[in-house]
Amino acid sequence: MPSEQKRFLRALAGETLAIPPIWLMRQAGRYLPEYRATRTEAGSFLDLCYNPKLACEVTLQPLRRYDFDAAILFSDILVIPQALGQELAFKQGEGPQLDPIRDASGLSRLNIDKIHETLGPVYETVSLLSDAIPAHTALIGFAGAPWTVATYMVEGKGSKDFANIRRFAYGDPEGFSKLIDILVEATTQYLLRQVAAGAECIQLFETWGGVLSENGFHRWVIEPTRRIVANLKAVHPDVPVIGFPRGAGLHLIDFKTLTGVDAVGLDSGVPLKWVAENLQKLGPVQGNLDPMYLITGGDEMLAEVRRILDVLGNGPFIFNLGHGITPETPPENVGLLVDYIRAQK
Ligand code: CP3
Repeated sequence: MPSEQKRFLRALAGETLAIPPIWLMRQAGRYLPEYRATRTEAGSFLDLCYNPKLACEVTLQPLRRYDFDAAILFSDILVIPQALGQELAFKQGEGPQLDPIRDASGLSRLNIDKIHETLGPVYETVSLLSDAIPAHTALIGFAGAPWTVATYMVEGKGSKDFANIRRFAYGDPEGFSKLIDILVEATTQYLLRQVAAGAECIQLFETWGGVLSENGFHRWVIEPTRRIVANLKAVHPDVPVIGFPRGAGLHLIDFKTLTGVDAVGLDSGVPLKWVAENLQKLGPVQGNLDPMYLITGGDEMLAEVRRILDVLGNGPFIFNLGHGITPETPPENVGLLVDYIRAQK
């Protein structure tokens, strides 16, 4: 099947489909018993990320259950800092831990020259997937956007207030921009290799963009994203890019128009009527069911899905969550969601 006929890519190209394509962020993950079994087989989460055969297997698992319109490469946004030389560990139940870089002097620990030695297995996963996914399913590659990856590099772990990175970025913008420059370059190279290996679309995860001031958002979210998109488009003008600037609020219009992304992912807090009237005119949108509804399930979930379809279904739209699926999600609720959407009109 020519790729332009894949429903997911048609929606990304601006087509309005009666039944929107659907995939879910973190669709491969701990809510699936078969994922937990494969992770155990791999040894650890990071071992799984760097094991092409098993990473391919966990990417395919949710497709077998729900026949999603897109598969997303199984990896993590934090393989980039690791490939740059920063130590990374995932302790079970605690999230990521990195040896933090608190100021510009820490940048000497990073080396961009050898990233592909670490990232090679990820490209191999993309290539295996490209052969293994069903003909109607699109393959999404991804990376974290520079600001979000930098939050983990500077804080050393997840954060509630992002005090260390805001202090670095606001207090020493020249020094901080060197970190962002390294991430723009590494991310560009990483994504170009994913496309060369068979990724048909790229999503950039900007999970923590919402913590920045107005100027900060332009300088550390919009500008680095714009550079990555331009770098990708210079080589692969036809590969669509989805930007997911979580918490961007009123910045969404500037984000869309200034970065050059093809489509915008919406978090669950964005008012949908505003999106339909303002943002969706500029290009396809993706989102935005609150993942908590997948835990509650039932009629409340379906009513919320109905509301999203009613408001966004009349323009180019891809159904997704407003953030990643959580480990507590009963798999049958995902089945209910997918069946409901596919039973439209
Ligand atoms: O969506 C997919 O199915 C593809 C795989 C994927 C993972 N992480 C796998 C993962 C993707 C696209 C990501 C992106 C990611 N990783 C983001 C951006 C999106 C978001 O969720 O905000 C961020 C911030 C990370 C960093 C990260 N990875 C954190 C903070 C954690 C720990 C928190 C948690 O959810 O456990 C991870 C671990 C992680 N990444 C898991 C998975 C399946 C769970 C690890 C496990 O199996 O124990």
